[in-house]
Amino acid sequence: MSQAPIRRSVLVGTGAALPRRAVPNDEMAKMVDTSDEWIVARTGIRNRYIAGPDETTSSLATAAARQAIEAAKLNPTDIDLIVLATATPDQTFPATATIVQHELGCHGGIAFDVAAVCSGFLYALGVADSMLRSGMARRALVIGSETFSRILDWEDRTTCVLFGDGAGAIVLEARESTDPDAPGILASKLHADGAHNQLLYVDGGPSTTGTVGKLRMTGKEVFRHAVTNLADVLREVLDQTGLTSADIDWVVPHQANQRILDATARKLNLPAEKVVVTIDRHANTSAASVPLALDTAVRDGRIKPGQLVMLEAMGGGFTWGASLIRI
Ligand code: UT7
Repeated sequence: MSQAPIRRSVLVGTGAALPRRAVPNDEMAKMVDTSDEWIVARTGIRNRYIAGPDETTSSLATAAARQAIEAAKLNPTDIDLIVLATATPDQTFPATATIVQHELGCHGGIAFDVAAVCSGFLYALGVADSMLRSGMARRALVIGSETFSRILDWEDRTTCVLFGDGAGAIVLEARESTDPDAPGILASKLHADGAHNQLLYVDGGPSTTGTVGKLRMTGKEVFRHAVTNLADVLREVLDQTGLTSADIDWVVPHQANQRILDATARKLNLPAEKVVVTIDRHANTSAASVPLALDTAVRDGRIKPGQLVMLEAMGGGFTWGASLIRI
């Protein structure tokens, strides 16, 4: 008897966009009481990109999306689903995804935003994958785009040195195959625990202060939870597929802190060479960091067809998650 075909969401293109202005650590040291040595030693960050007044979450997202569609050899009109992860939308509403949809010129499909802060891209990926596998859409743009510079307290050295702006995008296409080793998203796991809201949040919003607010973080506590939660969720995804960490070709983590990347890799016995690192160049770009790092490693030829790639992230909420993809 022949096997029933499995429908999977296949990664067919990636793209990225960064603001024009690069801000190295030495420039940060002119704004607040910090130093290149402290930032590099505690975080691994050497540089970040900061959006100018004409660069917005939607403009960065649109640029990244165009690249991803081009890499997929598709036209914008082929896209019938846009899921955009952001904590820094252009406006309170409409969803930034609808602005991107209009800019791209692909009207009539589905377009909405997902808010899960630094885990936003993993959440958006999970939603898009479910919608593609259920048949609600055929080709999805999944975007992570942020302008965190707009919600930073530029007088708080404990947070303003850590974040940057940028966008990353991927195109997923629903394909059916009877081959169990066919490419596509193999497994995903998402979690949230609202008990930790106050460790990482923005002190404003339309329904409370009526202002946008600024980011506040108890860094040490977030760090501690991140290492534990990420190692746990990576194990959960591996267990779901019957694979082990030795089977993974690349880990593309959320880029929050080099020490979190190192500690998580150690916990799972993953050699550091398998971890894609962009934190030195981009700093923490929240929902954009995973697709920015993914695009970097696809374009420089490290990530190749047939390989197994694990994406993971943890952020405000807390929210966290991981997804295993065969390229
Ligand atoms: O993306 C969402 C998830 N976010 C994260 O995963 C972030 C997780 N947390 C972290 O990455 C780290 O906790 C930080 C990088 C935020 C901080 O590193 P830490 O090793 O936990 O440092 P700390 O907060 O304990 O601060 C150590 C010292 C303090 O001075 P005292 O109290 O020991 O005198 C801080 O005031 O470093 C001081 N400090 C700084 N010094 C120079 C804090 N920020 C700075 C700074 N420059 N920018």
